[in-house]
Amino acid sequence: MNILLLGSGGRENALAWKMVKSHHCDQLFIAPGNAGTSQYGTNLAISVTDFSAIKQACLEHAIRMLVVGPEEPLVKGIYDFFSTDPSLQHITVVGPSAEAAQLEGSKAFSKKFMQRHGIPTAGYAEFTADTYGEGKTYIAQHSLPVVLKADGLAAGKGVVIAATTEEALRVFEEMILHKQFGDASSKVVIEEFLQGIEVSVFALTDGEVYQVIGHAKDYKRIGEGDTGLNTGGMGCVSPVPFMDELFMQKVEERIIRPTIEGLSKEKLNYHGFVFFGLMNVGGEPYVIEYNCRMGDPETEVVMPRLQTDIVGLFAAMDNGTLIDANVEFYPQSVATVMAVSGGYPGDYRKNLPISGLEQPVGNDSIIFHAGTRSDNGQVLTSGGRVLTVTSYGNNIGEAVAKSKNILGKISFEGMYFRKDIGYEFL
Ligand code: AMP
Ligand code: GLY
Repeated sequence: MNILLLGSGGRENALAWKMVKSHHCDQLFIAPGNAGTSQYGTNLAISVTDFSAIKQACLEHAIRMLVVGPEEPLVKGIYDFFSTDPSLQHITVVGPSAEAAQLEGSKAFSKKFMQRHGIPTAGYAEFTADTYGEGKTYIAQHSLPVVLKADGLAAGKGVVIAATTEEALRVFEEMILHKQFGDASSKVVIEEFLQGIEVSVFALTDGEVYQVIGHAKDYKRIGEGDTGLNTGGMGCVSPVPFMDELFMQKVEERIIRPTIEGLSKEKLNYHGFVFFGLMNVGGEPYVIEYNCRMGDPETEVVMPRLQTDIVGLFAAMDNGTLIDANVEFYPQSVATVMAVSGGYPGDYRKNLPISGLEQPVGNDSIIFHAGTRSDNGQVLTSGGRVLTVTSYGNNIGEAVAKSKNILGKISFEGMYFRKDIGYEFL
């Protein structure tokens, strides 16, 4: 079948790399894609939220499956757009309905969902402009640090961990009264700070049953030793040594199973990925957040580690046989190290020529493009996170070393990458 993949980051590059290996995949199209995805299929210059152009592309290219990379089209209802249009209803959409995508699109929705289904998460309260005074009192009495979250999507910037009550009150005022994130912060969730190690677990579900397709640890801070500003993610490793059978059993019993049962009981239409953002608090898993998509750069380790045909899993999800699927993993450790443009996550330059992409990388490594574009055959940077190198190794140290070696031969002006990905497991 012909498949259309939406998105343009490293996640989509990794999904494209994995999907074209499938015998179910005839032609792959990526909208809009990047210079890396064009190695695996045909890029279409269409925005991920231009539903009518996406429809036209699906009809023109006889698409049978739509795989949605980022959250925005899901939260904006691409699933519902396809399921209610008679000319698109035959297309399998990998991604939840808009209603179910609120698990990511609304922090208050996801907190209430977790509360209804007894899923472990930080204690919280939610406030709006109408309850602003109560919110201030709540903050004044809250333990520190305290976490404030804009309810809606805020491009990854809507969460503040305040160390003092004064800072928390200031952030609360910005969000609610000054609408710092527009409508996204007209409601604010205030929650307890969880002390622990953050990890991500990924499942594929049809809203009734699920399969775990991988897990990873992401390195979010820009600086070595986990210092400096938060980023989209500077690297990942999988498997994570402390996510052993016992921990994963707790995750499945206390978190994944009740989540899928909750979707089913509430008749939320969900056919796609669930990203469980977890905090390991002294060996006990808590949900920090749900995402209705794969992670980036988590996908760049999860897809390479997955042995099973991903398109086969999507088809099984669609035809009710997901429960029978056999999900297998390669035994090696996998690591990815992200190269970013100087200045990221603050201001950075674009359109910088990249060299070293043609080097032979062998069977143990893959270069995934994130923010790149092609200009007359020259690959240029087009984002903060530019490219990531994933490698297999007998252990995490070996995998990271291979990626760093390859990155050492790639360059663009101001290029930076963390040299210490996986440091605590060496
Ligand atoms: P979110 O958008 O909910 O993933 O939050 C962004 C980041 O803030 C997370 O990746 C965590 O690092 C951190 N965070 C969010 N909620 C909490 C919490 N309750 N306790 C500690 N850290 C948190
Ligand atoms: N790497 C974190 C995310 O994709 O949200």
